[in-house]
Amino acid sequence: MPPLGAALSSEVERGAYVARAADCAPCHTAPGGKAFAGGQVLKTDFGAMTSPNITPDPETGIGGWTQEEFSRAVREGVAPHLGLLYPTMSYPSYAKMSDADVNALYAYMMSIPPVRAPRQEQELSFPFNIRFLLAGWRKVFFDNSEFVPDSSLNDTVNRGAYLVLGAAHCAECHTPRNALGGFDSSKPLAGAVIDGYWAPNLTPDPKTGLGSWSEDEIFAYLSGKPSSRGGPFGPMHDVVANGTAHLTEGDVRAMAAYLSQLKPIENAHEIPLDRAAGEASIARGYVAYKANCAACHRDSGAGVRGLAPALSGHHALAVASQNVVLPVIAGLSGKGRIAMPAFKLNDQTVADIANYVRNAMGGGVDATATAAQVAAARAKLH
Ligand code: HEC
Ligand code: HEC
Ligand code: HEC
Repeated sequence: MPPLGAALSSEVERGAYVARAADCAPCHTAPGGKAFAGGQVLKTDFGAMTSPNITPDPETGIGGWTQEEFSRAVREGVAPHLGLLYPTMSYPSYAKMSDADVNALYAYMMSIPPVRAPRQEQELSFPFNIRFLLAGWRKVFFDNSEFVPDSSLNDTVNRGAYLVLGAAHCAECHTPRNALGGFDSSKPLAGAVIDGYWAPNLTPDPKTGLGSWSEDEIFAYLSGKPSSRGGPFGPMHDVVANGTAHLTEGDVRAMAAYLSQLKPIENAHEIPLDRAAGEASIARGYVAYKANCAACHRDSGAGVRGLAPALSGHHALAVASQNVVLPVIAGLSGKGRIAMPAFKLNDQTVADIANYVRNAMGGGVDATATAAQVAAARAKLH
């Protein structure tokens, strides 16, 4: 398999391409901060983590690291000064990256401007704050085997597998985890909760996954191209805008080809309300939608170009009410796009709006959202 960015002329340019595919920048750059200088706060179930500086500053960054040390940190989660790294850093996926790709990434990282920015202590809760306990975790959950192409699949699908499971680390958000944060190996890519959002089932299951998406539609979505299904938002907006939208057409099509041929896994995520309760909620939601949302998204959900995206037929509506609830209670920062404000509405009203929008604009989806679900999502925001 040719290395990533094989058509580019230098090792450093190839490394920049690998950094895009692996989406290293968003986690390692604070809002408004210098690229790769760290300081981004990442919320995990075990407490808040602050990403370190990975610019080549010799004292506060990785300037003094050898290629070998860098490769061990990225693929094995072992850093020279700290020892074992927390799997918040996506090394369980990066473990599948080839030597050629990691070495190019090293060349690139050493070429960027060094920034002085000391590392901050991690504020994890007990017992997760004890780094050496990670040794036990790794024994059970860390599969550091290298990527092996499957000879029964064609080169395109293997290329897609290498990207999805390795550098592009899609599993980090889309594969469910057990209570200790290890991947649930019985449901690879079948959907998981991340930052309060539901990162949907990427297997081609017709009811709960991407069964109704064509390869072209998956390609368009990952490339950030306009589509009648609506674009990525929330955490997935970063993945596309910073990462997959910068990859070659061949690489993005390979990912779509890989996802399309996966074995479908059914993974129902939300339980429908009983019929009468659902209908009453949808009726209340209609009124609340008109009052709060229609100014931007229009009564019909058609949206207004330059003001708000269309909701009617949006892919998010079919999937999970929580992906409608989250934008409403937390807002969407847009990152280079127009932002959506957070709304101060009570929990029941937010649930009603989610049920209405999904039912009326998402093709008759059953009502599933409840005030309790909204309250739980709200509690996790802080
Ligand atoms: C999902 C967020 C995330 C992504 C994506 C990510 N990192 Fe990290 N990275 C972290 C966090 C958090 C730590 C600190 C872990 C710890 O303290 O145990 C870290 C640690 C590191 C370290 C160790 C630095 C030190 O001072 O110990 C290096 C090197 C590193 N990352 C490089 C990369 C590279 C290169 C990429 C892209 C291939 C990348 N990271 C992608 C979150 C991320
Ligand atoms: C940081 C977490 C994160 C990562 C990494 C991530 N995703 Fe997502 N993804 C999400 C979330 C959250 C959503 C829901 C928002 C949306 O639909 O745009 C989503 C939505 C999607 C959807 C839309 C599915 C649907 O049914 O609506 C597709 C397709 C997708 N992701 C593919 C991928 C692929 C392929 C990768 C790897 C290149 C990837 N994702 C990496 C979090 C992530
Ligand atoms: C002030 C204008 C405005 C109002 C009012 C508004 N939105 Fe939005 N909405 C936006 C914008 C802009 C985006 C795109 C932001 C982004 O994705 O970063 C958006 C995105 C969304 C999304 C994610 C889809 C996507 O592709 O980004 C959902 C779901 C949503 N809005 C639902 C609602 C609901 C429900 C209400 C009423 C409670 C509402 N919005 C009110 C402007 C608005």
